[in-house]
Amino acid sequence: MTTAAPSVQTRELSAAPDWWRQAVVYQVYPRSFADTDGDGLGDIRGITSRVPYLAELGVDAIWLSPFYPSDLADGGYDVADYRDVDPRLGTLADMDELIAQLHAHGIRVVVDIVPNHTSDKHAWFQEALAAGRGSAARGRYIFREGTGPDGAEPPTDWVSVFGGAGWERVEDGQWYFHNFDVSQPDLDWTNPEVRADFVKTLRFWSDRGVDGFRIDVAHMLTKDLTEPLPSQAELDAMPQDGNHPLIDRDDVHEVYAEWRAVFNSYDPPRTAVAEAWVHPSRVPLYASIESLGQAFNFDLLEADFDAGQFRRIVADNLELAAQSGSSTTWVLSNHDVVRHATRYGLPDAERGDDGRPTRKHGNEWLLSGGRTPVLDTARGERRARAAALFVLGLPGSAYLYQGEELGLHEVAEIPDEQRQDPTFFRSPGVDLGRDGCRVPLPWSDEGPAFGFGSAGAHLPQPEWFGAYAVDRQDGEPASTLSLYRSALDLRHALQTDEQLQWVEVDRDDVVAFARPNGWTVVTNFGTEPVALPAGEVLLSSTELEGDVLAGETTVWLRRA
Ligand code: NOJ
Repeated sequence: MTTAAPSVQTRELSAAPDWWRQAVVYQVYPRSFADTDGDGLGDIRGITSRVPYLAELGVDAIWLSPFYPSDLADGGYDVADYRDVDPRLGTLADMDELIAQLHAHGIRVVVDIVPNHTSDKHAWFQEALAAGRGSAARGRYIFREGTGPDGAEPPTDWVSVFGGAGWERVEDGQWYFHNFDVSQPDLDWTNPEVRADFVKTLRFWSDRGVDGFRIDVAHMLTKDLTEPLPSQAELDAMPQDGNHPLIDRDDVHEVYAEWRAVFNSYDPPRTAVAEAWVHPSRVPLYASIESLGQAFNFDLLEADFDAGQFRRIVADNLELAAQSGSSTTWVLSNHDVVRHATRYGLPDAERGDDGRPTRKHGNEWLLSGGRTPVLDTARGERRARAAALFVLGLPGSAYLYQGEELGLHEVAEIPDEQRQDPTFFRSPGVDLGRDGCRVPLPWSDEGPAFGFGSAGAHLPQPEWFGAYAVDRQDGEPASTLSLYRSALDLRHALQTDEQLQWVEVDRDDVVAFARPNGWTVVTNFGTEPVALPAGEVLLSSTELEGDVLAGETTVWLRRA
């Protein structure tokens, strides 16, 4: 099925300043990647030990989710110190070694920056608690007096993104605002000290050789907190047009203009990608070269495996990228959503008038512990492989989430007492949260923790993980790992910045597009076989039989 042998040679680190435009970036969730010290948590040395694996896979860069000191109230997105490493994960020297090893293998490094909020364990927040009302230390956060008798009611009825109230009262009676968990107080971005400190952090990691940054909730930093504060209902009714008090404000780009000057003071310039859940028309603001330079496009996270949806999403996002001058980003899975092999094996999402899923895709299945609606694992994997070849054939950068190269499924069967995600506790229990995509990777089908580490895993790995282990797939031509290796290898030879040309076909369930040098990508999203278009087959997501393109299959062809 895979006709090209994967290259195991180490690539040179690209010297091009725009290395990121067409890069394949592999997201590592450090605490669940590889554990070398046997504490059940993945660590930095674990990632270093797997650099040859990443090189053989053929990725251009890795993005590290937070590895900073943290109480892990939100999987590390509650950062206690932006310029250090969680001692359970290693040291700064370990990070230096990881960066050096990645670079030596031609792989660039992107780290996660979480600027909207700190952890409540951050020295600043501890100082703010101790210093009391009216202090400069409280001025780095959003503290307000309460309402009602004795100020016992929160300043507003604002709700947290994770569910529950958005305000928390401290001992002396003041309240602080947290968009996310109570352990994640929001920073006040009008405070010059806050701004200066993040510049220091960007320089700290850039000086250590980090090549780029993924900016967490990039659209939420700046806020208009002019009194009287609106109610939640008023907030919900306001347009998100750049002037909303809390979301996607135009003035956030003043922060990023300052960061841009920092990025551009390095050679090659440091890159950034915005995690910005904003109206599509506003994405180019984040992706512009005056701002962060690239922004995530999450449309495929919400799409079914459906020809019409995929084609529209591609057309829309290529158009948005053209507007900003950036390249777009294709994402099928990340640490916040149900893995796509599972999404594609479940019934299609129910959609509202705007075409978006009415509920979190897969939540019903998670809530039933994976029993109903029944997951068709084989179909999910087949479609996942087809979707992967589809997106890897597109212009733009592709972000892969650890484990998708193994065809890994979401883990539904995590007992409540072992869950970690704050969305589970704050919903409460209505949303089972994101733990199921964060279960430590299976490296071998035998031995403790499936090769993840010597002493178990911080989230329980199910029995079926062994069948997906790296050592079961390594060298197996039909495996998903081999498919990804071949695809990335071929992509290195074929990918350019040039736009695609749609190839019109006479079926609604087939999408085809042409790239430079005869490279053509054809996906049959339907279940009925169709005639295989002419051309030399470079790669196929399922075994080809005769001149037929089977259902739920993508083929890469070279046309004369
Ligand atoms: C987005 C991150 O991807 C998610 O994991 C996190 O919980 C929130 N931001 C808050 O930092």
